[in-house]
Amino acid sequence: MPDTTPLLTRRPQWTALEDHRAKFNGTHLRELFATDPGRAERYTVQVGDLHLDYSKHLVTDETLALLQELATATDVFGQRDAMLRGEKINTTEDRAVLHTALRAPADAVIEVDGENVVPKVHAVLDKMAAFADKVRSGEWTGHTGKRIKNVVNVGIGGSDLGPAMAYEALRPFTARDLTFRFVSNVDGADLHEAVRDLDPAETLFIIASKTFTTIETITNAKAARSWLLAALGDESAVAKHFVALSTNAEKVSDFGIDTANMFEFWDWVGGRYSFDSAIGLSLVIAIGPAAFRELLDGFHLVDEHFRTAPAEANAPLLLGLLGVWYGNFHGAQSHAVLPYSHYLSKFTAYLQQLDMESNGKSVDRQGRPVEWQTGPVVWGTPGTNGQHAYYQLIHQGTKLIPADLIGFAKPVAELGELADQHDLLMANLFAQGQALGFGKTADEVRAEGIAEEQVAHRTFKGNHPTTTILATELTPSVLGQLIALYEQKVFVQGAIWNIDSFDQWGVELGKVLAKRVEPALTEGTEVPGLDASTQSLVTTYRALRGR
Ligand code: F6P
Repeated sequence: MPDTTPLLTRRPQWTALEDHRAKFNGTHLRELFATDPGRAERYTVQVGDLHLDYSKHLVTDETLALLQELATATDVFGQRDAMLRGEKINTTEDRAVLHTALRAPADAVIEVDGENVVPKVHAVLDKMAAFADKVRSGEWTGHTGKRIKNVVNVGIGGSDLGPAMAYEALRPFTARDLTFRFVSNVDGADLHEAVRDLDPAETLFIIASKTFTTIETITNAKAARSWLLAALGDESAVAKHFVALSTNAEKVSDFGIDTANMFEFWDWVGGRYSFDSAIGLSLVIAIGPAAFRELLDGFHLVDEHFRTAPAEANAPLLLGLLGVWYGNFHGAQSHAVLPYSHYLSKFTAYLQQLDMESNGKSVDRQGRPVEWQTGPVVWGTPGTNGQHAYYQLIHQGTKLIPADLIGFAKPVAELGELADQHDLLMANLFAQGQALGFGKTADEVRAEGIAEEQVAHRTFKGNHPTTTILATELTPSVLGQLIALYEQKVFVQGAIWNIDSFDQWGVELGKVLAKRVEPALTEGTEVPGLDASTQSLVTTYRALRGR
């Protein structure tokens, strides 16, 4: 049947936004605040523990209404409901998209192909909790009877970024007597540095791979096994030092890991949406099962908000629409996520996969080239460090870069006297939101007695939009809320752009070519059809490598 979904750019709601944008040109945040003093209060939404202020955006009530009309026309909420019902909305892979089931309470009913998946989700959670308790208490010992003191997660992409990010984020909640390391890169240096100071007899490897075929992970897992066996000598040691997190029992068994030591998840969990599945095992060991449940409840809280909140107060919808407004109507190419928390140092890297692997698409669900911008480049590091590096470009460069500023009212308790620095940290967050939004006019610069030839250099145009996200403190629940907020925002944007946010065919070509090129590097074999540039690089590499 021919598809009749209208192209996004031909929808009247789209053209209405284009017209609105044209009239909006030149409007400054200073003006918007001067003419609408109530906007700071009105453009604030509370979701669970998250306080979101989106008043410093280049929008009016009319803009928001038009954006919401676009969301209605593209049936964002209908698409949301289809996802939550377990429909196979990942059409190119013919899969349901049910990461929301991973954090659903035990009495929820969510069906895939007529089967309620919630009981099996909770069965795995129970198995993870029991295992984590054994490791944490010392009951689970290594092959020689020594207590496990080190946990090394070996995985990449969604099988690494989530646990690695959350471990950093929740360090104050972790068992400080255990050491956690995360190995992802096929560069042997990663594993080498991760294990060089560890005692194999005290080390547990968690091999995390949805498919259990990812070359980086399998290569590192084999190397880890060799490292272990070189010290412990005996193949039977693997059973006490290796567990697997996967959907693929056959491959796990082929690798030599007993499937009794496998923690399962399912094909309806996308890799980048998997960290609240079995993939979170390292985190459960780190923070304990109760805190992990708090994290899942935080996710669930935002899922429920997304499912039930009306459009005008629906935080993921609002954030998604704001991104569409800048990317599609202002030409913004990127989006900065700037946490004012050292503990969130890996948060933006995690969001890069979530957002860019989901929405980095250039054909719509019907396979037609899109005529509109899709996902932005997501980037950023903790705010104060960024201020002394790239903020100059955000403030005075030529690009529009919408940004999220994330901060917490309370420092973590264990900082002791160092907690006194927290107000200074947060003063920076508030100052940046203010400076980015309102800038500093030439007249204000002149009033400071600055010489005229310096005025242009010291003027800040402002008008750089930011969302400020505040919470009382960074707890497991708040982390879950934050991640779910971004997950659902990414969903909203994919729904509007009519793309499949849940496949990732774009990573395949590089994988295939790497496999083809490797024998040319190691053995000098000829690769048929290799382009002249790559051939020349291969030849140079081999010469430099002394081959
Ligand atoms: O980068 C592609 C990808 O498939 C990601 O989506 C996924 O998170 C990662 O590779 C790792 O895959 P796996 O968990 O199957 O090893």
